[in-house]
Parts: sequence; C-alpha cells; structure tokens
Amino acid sequence: MAQATFHFPRGFLWGTATSSHQVEGDNKNNNWWAWEQESGRIAEGHTSGLACDWWAGRWQEDFDRAVETGQNAHRLSIEWSRIQPAPDRWDEHALDNYHQMLRGLKERGLTPIVTLHHFTDPFWLEEQGGWENEAVAALFEAYVRRVVETLKEYVSIWCTINEPNVVATAGYLMGWFPPGKQDLNAAIQVMTNQVRAHSAAYHAIHEIQSEARVGLVVNYRGFDPLRTWFPPDRLAARYVSRLYNDFFPRAALDGKLVFLTKRITIPQAIGTQDFLGINYYTQELIGFAPRAPKEIFLRRSFPENVDLSPSGVIANIPKGFLKALHWGLQYKVPIIVTENGVEDAADELRPRYIAEHIHQMWRAVNAYYPVEGYFHWSLIDNFEWHQGWTQRFGLWELDPETQIRSKRPSADLYAAICKQNGLSSDMLAEFAPIILEKIFPD
Ligand code: GAL
Repeated sequence: MAQATFHFPRGFLWGTATSSHQVEGDNKNNNWWAWEQESGRIAEGHTSGLACDWWAGRWQEDFDRAVETGQNAHRLSIEWSRIQPAPDRWDEHALDNYHQMLRGLKERGLTPIVTLHHFTDPFWLEEQGGWENEAVAALFEAYVRRVVETLKEYVSIWCTINEPNVVATAGYLMGWFPPGKQDLNAAIQVMTNQVRAHSAAYHAIHEIQSEARVGLVVNYRGFDPLRTWFPPDRLAARYVSRLYNDFFPRAALDGKLVFLTKRITIPQAIGTQDFLGINYYTQELIGFAPRAPKEIFLRRSFPENVDLSPSGVIANIPKGFLKALHWGLQYKVPIIVTENGVEDAADELRPRYIAEHIHQMWRAVNAYYPVEGYFHWSLIDNFEWHQGWTQRFGLWELDPETQIRSKRPSADLYAAICKQNGLSSDMLAEFAPIILEKIFPD
C-alpha cells in the first residue's frame, strides 16, 4: 500500500457548522416553533424542544469538544427572534449571551463564522407577511446593524442568509417549511426580497466594519440529465441548475435576477459577495416528465448503485463536490465550504463520506481553487427541520431527552484530519479501509 498524505495549505479553516434553532433549544418566538406545534408538519411529530441546550450554556462543553478534536473554527447563527423579540424591542440579554458564546469561541482558538439568517423568522415578521413583504429588506438591515455593532469585536466573517434557495423552494414551492406555500409568484417575490435584504445587509456591515468579509451561503446541488442523449433532459437539468444554484450568487455578482418569465436588475446587489459559501451534500439526475406537472415537469432520481444515507436523502457522490467547487470558481471570489455532511446515526457511511469528500476538496485546493475552509455539518446531532430527530448529522450523537453526548468514530477521523491539516493513508487504513485502495492506489 502506498503511504501518503494529502496536505492542505497552512491556515486552512477546519470546523463544524450549526444553526441557532437547531441547537439552542427553548426557542419559542419564531415561525419554526409555531410550525412544529402543528400536527403533521414534522416527521413523527417531533419538536425542537431543548435541542442541544446551548442557550442554557451547554455550548461550552460542545465548543470544548470541537477544540479537543483539532478544529480551529466554528460556524454558528444568530437568532433574529431572540435579538428582536418584538418590532420595537431589542433584547440586551440575548445579545449578551451571543457575546459570551463568541468570546467562548475566540478563547478556545476557534475562528467564528456567523450566519445572520438561518431559516427562522421572528413570529412578528411572519405576521407581517415575512419574506413576501418588501419591507423585510429594511427590517433585516436594522437587525443586522444591531448585531454587527455589538458583536464585531469577535467576528469578521459574516454570512447574510443561509441557503436562500432552500428557503424559497421548501417554504414556497414544496410546502415543507413554513409558511408551507406552493405558489410560484410568492417564491419569485421572496427571492427578490432576499436579494434586496442581502444587499442591504452587505452594505450595512461594511459601513460598520470595514475589514468585514460578507457572503451568501448557497445550497449547491448537482443536477445531471437522466438521459444524456435526450435533449429535453439536458435542458431541464441545465435550467434547474441555473435557477437553483446560480440565481443568488449571480445576483450578488452583477445584480441580475433571472427568472423563467422575467428579469429584474437590482443595482445595489452588484458586487455584494466577498466570498461564496457553498453547502454541498449530494447531486441528482433530472428527467423531463411532461406528465408530472406537480413536480414542475421533472423526474428526480439518484444514479443506480450509489451509496445512500439511511433515509435515502443523500447519495454519496464525492465527485459532485469537486464539480460544486469548480462551479463556484466562476464567481471569482474565495470559497468557503460552509456545510458538508451526511445523516447516518450508525456512522457506517459517514467515515468514507468524509474521507472521499475531503479527498475531492484536496484535488480542488491542489489545483489552486481558492477554497479557504471546510465546515462539517454538524458537530452534534440537532433538530433537523421537517425531519425532526429522524436524521442524525452529528460527529457526536445526542440523546435529546437526557442530553447525553456520545462520540461517533467519525469524530476521531475528522480530528485526525484537522490536526494533521491533511488526509493520510493511515487514517483511511484505520477509519475507512474499504476505500483505501481507491484513494491511495499502489
Ligand atoms: C442544510 C441546512 C442545515 C442542515 C443541513 C442538513 O440545508 O442549512 O440547517 O439542516 O441542511 O440537512
């Protein structure tokens, strides 16, 4: 067996990612909490409950876990509904709690990356029409100003909106996320307002903190044609990719919002990304299906004979990750992998998923793609949105009832990668021998 190590550049960021509603617990003043109380919304009727109990202070022990496993960064999000519980009220205690968390990261040598909007909205905002209301851009900007003014001492990398493409698709086309609509016009309105809100936040942050680096986080999903020989499949895959993957980073590059039926230009959006955050999990095949109008004339599937995660939502396609990073190059800004991971309670697939994806990322870095860091989703099992607790993404397992954490083997593999700033054949021999020959051939 060939013995070797794939090294990453000095200063590469290695961390995990979390989001407020998924880990903090007892987070009752937002649209997701209300959604969880409605029957039939969340798998098995689960609720976020205490989540990982971070709000009461358990972040301390989990940040210790991150440090002990060699990580040097962490991505978390701020909960708008805690900072601004009512339109005319700011909560200093909540700001102080985030102050302590971020100081906690710094003291442990973990570089913070902070997301300002990760899926949840204050309940009062939803009552005002949420992201369909044009006023959201100014409201978001006011909240962002307050946060950045208070926390800038600890943070210089800000993500404005996490996965605006998922918010629009899951909340306004599929109906999985609140407000549970299936309304194309509403989705278009929301996407337009997201670009406005992102741009307003971008400019406000730079005004307050000149050294800040601000970006969007996109959920990139590879879409390949089901039948490469069939032009309608090729067209469908290309179109879906443009709308899903390119829409937001394109808008932040040249201010152009390209829909199927119309184009809009928002000049304030031009040049509003200092880096691009890419969340990559999987890729899929797209077929043109004229008889499936409910699925917008598309048939979606995974290629045959690929590894699937236990509930079948993620196919292990590491080459799709390299493709995602290659796709990101066109925006001509540095890339941060803000999320990548797999749901796998038994930790059977995760070790090779991690190793194969990091191998592909190394290929990108080795070809001088400007990738600055990697954030595994996630540090610890957390509340997985409409899938509740049925999908487990953590390097640590969590029992939400007892709050007991147990380390999965993948945490040790990831620790070895972070500590060595690279991926070695020895690590694969220990944690994922089945792919050793594939990644380190003789
Ligand atoms: C992302 C999302 C995260 C997490 C992850 C795993 O789309 O940003 O909050 O839920 O998926 O499914």
